[in-house]
Amino acid sequence: MKSNNLIYKATAIAPANIAFIKFWGKKDSQLNIPFNDSISMNLNRCQTKTYVKFNSELKDDVVIVNKKRIEGTEKNRVVAILDKVRKMSGLRMFAEVVSENDFPSNAGIASSASAFSALALAASVASGLGLSKKDLSILARLGSGSACRSIYDGFSYWKKGRDSKSSFAVQFAKPDFWDVADIVAVVDTGRKKTSSTEGHNQALTSPYFKTRLNELKIRTPLLKKALLDRNFQKFGELVEEEAVSLHVCAMTSKPPIFYWNRGTMEVIETVFGLRSEGILAYFTIDAGPNVHVICRNKNIKRVEKNLKKLKSVLFTITNKPGLGARLEKNDNN
Ligand code: PMV
Repeated sequence: MKSNNLIYKATAIAPANIAFIKFWGKKDSQLNIPFNDSISMNLNRCQTKTYVKFNSELKDDVVIVNKKRIEGTEKNRVVAILDKVRKMSGLRMFAEVVSENDFPSNAGIASSASAFSALALAASVASGLGLSKKDLSILARLGSGSACRSIYDGFSYWKKGRDSKSSFAVQFAKPDFWDVADIVAVVDTGRKKTSSTEGHNQALTSPYFKTRLNELKIRTPLLKKALLDRNFQKFGELVEEEAVSLHVCAMTSKPPIFYWNRGTMEVIETVFGLRSEGILAYFTIDAGPNVHVICRNKNIKRVEKNLKKLKSVLFTITNKPGLGARLEKNDNN
């Protein structure tokens, strides 16, 4: 890692994740402390590769995302993580950060989870810090809450905690625990109109927010159990209930946020149609119009076929449970 011309570098790969119990609303918006625990699965076909190179010759941090140099708020979020790493390691150098997604950046899939978990791992290793998975999860969370769940392989559980030290994710189940898939039906490739950051901030203005938190006291342990029991029907029903709960909250916040569009509704109706034909498929939706359709591996072809037939579906991405953040073995950067 270390060389005489004072370059310290590392490259990491990390996945996006889909939350079955979702993070919505922040108790502390600086530290990304949530109001509730959440549960997710890593997506093996939606990953970010990031290299971080601390270089004594640089006069400022340089951040390049998907071949474009970024500035302003987006860059500041990356610099905040680099600053934290510099503080912890004592390294006093600027860094070059180059990050690329292996999935279409216009797919409307939140890349902040994969981006910040890859950044946390690459920056900490490059600086010589040997962080535990727990501390990596905390560092990733500071960049984007959901990123703390992308550190571990497979399925993760984020314990909300009370403060920065106690709010981190743990592994819930390994990738091969369950033969489930997440087929993302992309119905809109545009940038979402309301960011998840704004959504989190507005969540508390919904009269339904408190009810949602109360419901989660029941829904979260039930979903946890359905997952551990591999009870797909029960699991799917809870996943849908949870997605609707988040969106009811968004739609009733002030001002209201409607992430869904016509295509979203068309996919939801197709999922209902599949179920009426005996195919167990369930939907979940994050802060955007694209729909994640969850099914068993044996039904992937059938679900893909029905989704691809829809006029509003531009393309689909089929994911299996994926690995968490890891270092690239052949680091040639
Ligand atoms: O990590 P953030 O701030 O981008 O928030 C993620 C919000 C959702 O994707 C809607 C839910 C979740 O838990 O991933």
